[in-house]
Amino acid sequence: MENRIDIQICLGSSCFSRGNKHLVKVIEQYLNENNLRHLVHYHGAHCFSKCDRGPLLSIDGKEYTELNEEKVLSILDGIFGNTSSGV
Ligand code: FES
Repeated sequence: MENRIDIQICLGSSCFSRGNKHLVKVIEQYLNENNLRHLVHYHGAHCFSKCDRGPLLSIDGKEYTELNEEKVLSILDGIFGNTSSGV
């Protein structure tokens, strides 16, 4: 139970206004639809002081920058091995 994946989405004002306001919901929906909530610790974070590379989030300490919806979904698929795209 200790091995939950830690997902931190930056909710600093820059990231928030540049896309994370929407991505928060994208991720939430992804986790719900794929029944992954129990596997992750999903929470908002303060500014990472890398606003110029935002919007960004961090998963288990690894930062993903300059995000958009497509990127986020492919990152999540990569991590959770989602097969809804066909395989
Ligand atoms: S607001 Fe996200 S890094 Fe600053």
